[in-house]
Amino acid sequence: MPEKTAGLRRSHYCGEINEDLAGSEVTIAGWVQRRRDHGGLVFLDMRDRSGLVQTVFDPQEDPETHRRARDLRPEYVLALRGTVRPRPADMENPKLKTGKVEILIRELRVLNGSKTPPFQIEEDQNVSENVRLKYRYLDLRIPGRLELFVLRDKITRITRDFFSGEGFLEVETPFLTRSTPEGARDFLVPSRLSPGRFYALPQSPQIFKQLLMIAGFDRYYQIARCFRDEDLRADRQPEFTQVDLEMSFVDEEDVMGLLEKYARRIFRETLGEAPPAPFPRLAHAEAMARYGSDRPDLRYDLEIRDLTHLLRNSSARIFSEGVKDGGAVRVLKAEDPRGRLSRRHLDDLVSLAQSLGAPGLAWIRTAQDGWRGPLVKFLSPEDIRGMKTELDCGDADILFFMSGEKDQASIILGRIRQELARLLDLIPENARSLVWITRFPLFEYSKEERRWVSSHHPFTAPEEDSLQFLESDPGRVLSRAYDLVLNGNEIGGGSVRIHRPEIQERVFQALGLPREEYREKFGFFLEALSYGAPPHGGCAFGLDRLAALLSGSGSIREVIAFPKTQKGVCPLTEAPGPARAAQLSELGLKLP
Ligand code: AMO
Repeated sequence: MPEKTAGLRRSHYCGEINEDLAGSEVTIAGWVQRRRDHGGLVFLDMRDRSGLVQTVFDPQEDPETHRRARDLRPEYVLALRGTVRPRPADMENPKLKTGKVEILIRELRVLNGSKTPPFQIEEDQNVSENVRLKYRYLDLRIPGRLELFVLRDKITRITRDFFSGEGFLEVETPFLTRSTPEGARDFLVPSRLSPGRFYALPQSPQIFKQLLMIAGFDRYYQIARCFRDEDLRADRQPEFTQVDLEMSFVDEEDVMGLLEKYARRIFRETLGEAPPAPFPRLAHAEAMARYGSDRPDLRYDLEIRDLTHLLRNSSARIFSEGVKDGGAVRVLKAEDPRGRLSRRHLDDLVSLAQSLGAPGLAWIRTAQDGWRGPLVKFLSPEDIRGMKTELDCGDADILFFMSGEKDQASIILGRIRQELARLLDLIPENARSLVWITRFPLFEYSKEERRWVSSHHPFTAPEEDSLQFLESDPGRVLSRAYDLVLNGNEIGGGSVRIHRPEIQERVFQALGLPREEYREKFGFFLEALSYGAPPHGGCAFGLDRLAALLSGSGSIREVIAFPKTQKGVCPLTEAPGPARAAQLSELGLKLP
């Protein structure tokens, strides 16, 4: 039975107990990590949020407390009073902060019992994610988990301090709103008071922060929750947090400059070292051509090269055919002097390319005694000579070729590039690469929707020089957007915005939205723009991604206290859950 805490007040956290306290009386409160019965003594490792400390119960000192200690089990909640003493030298545990001491217990209070937990409260227990998340409150007890939240808390504190120091106001914006297009599906919330109508949860505070600029707030920021109904991955959650900001009377240099200052401060205060500013920049077209990605990982080289000019008339038909209709031949050269890439690896890379829609992936191994690979027999001596010179081939390289539509060839080689970096161990430990990607196309063509869609969102300003192509050749229009990429992950994105209503309307039209539709959805915003909107721009950082990357976590789920699974489910609360018939009818809804 639980006993009262009365009389036992915590004097120290477990992790604070050290040799300086030897001889002192202390009181701790926490959970039993482990019990060991040894030579008549009972040892309990006690845990709280600060760490572990060893306690010992000695029948010679206090037979009654010792007897009761034998019934205690993992995860019982105790308050313990005792005296700190040094451990015998051969019993010290150098892995533990408190490993030089133990507490000889004289008083024990059981504050609560515990069922046997479904997994041990220790790292590396090989527990399925579903079980971990069902018992997330136990999972979060595992030593090490809390540190991720300490880091996240630090990032939000630095963020508030930084932006407030720069004159930004933190303003909250609504969750129950109209659609805020960021390219995902909306989560809809039915309205009881307006039956048959729905709020949309914001995909970002984009429209509201622009309205705040129109309102003359000049500098806004918010640590904002965003909601997007999209397919989930390791770096995507249906609800996630952005560090969101907007500034008036600025151009992209002002915003990027301020964000570099912010990012450097975060790096300095969390990792102890800030990357040098200004961060490198890469135009989108160049990033695609050289790295096959709009978020290239530049911790390693491996550049994609274009060999179209060389292989246009090659005797190998996959090249000469591939370059027809404006196609290209692109190649990736990896050095493999230690022969790490086996035939199986090569087959796996071919399968990877095929899974991405390529007909295949041609490869060649270079060696002193000649080149090998399924493609070699089709190549003329001139082809080989040309490639050797152009690519500066050595004796232990592997070349991967893709020919066909330019972007597709690059994108597929971009994925092969990532895989090669892993297989060949090319990513130096502790290396960090930050790069801005700029000059994105304003639109991308969506084959499914058979229309142009925004690469970012429809409020992004086009570059002045390419505005003329808005109607005639939308694919040529460049945007004033910028993304910040850390080690191949997009951690932030933003742009200078459209602030003139007539241009905003032209962009809606270029997106193929009928006038009635964009007026119905965004009429209020077009109207707001027409009341003297100042030039403005901003950005949003993915806070979860930032925290995950800075802590070295593989997934953003680790830095979110109660995340959803890949299927968007919360195993703990079993959300989403069913609705009662009465609730549905109140909302005017009928299920099929
Ligand atoms: P964007 O859509 O690029 O821009 O989002 C900004 C940053 O938010 C993070 N992010 C996500 N993190 C976790 N789960 C998700 N599902 C998810 N989606 C995005 C990324 C991304 O870089 N309103 C604009 C910003 C602006 O223009 O100011 C916006 O939301 O790190």
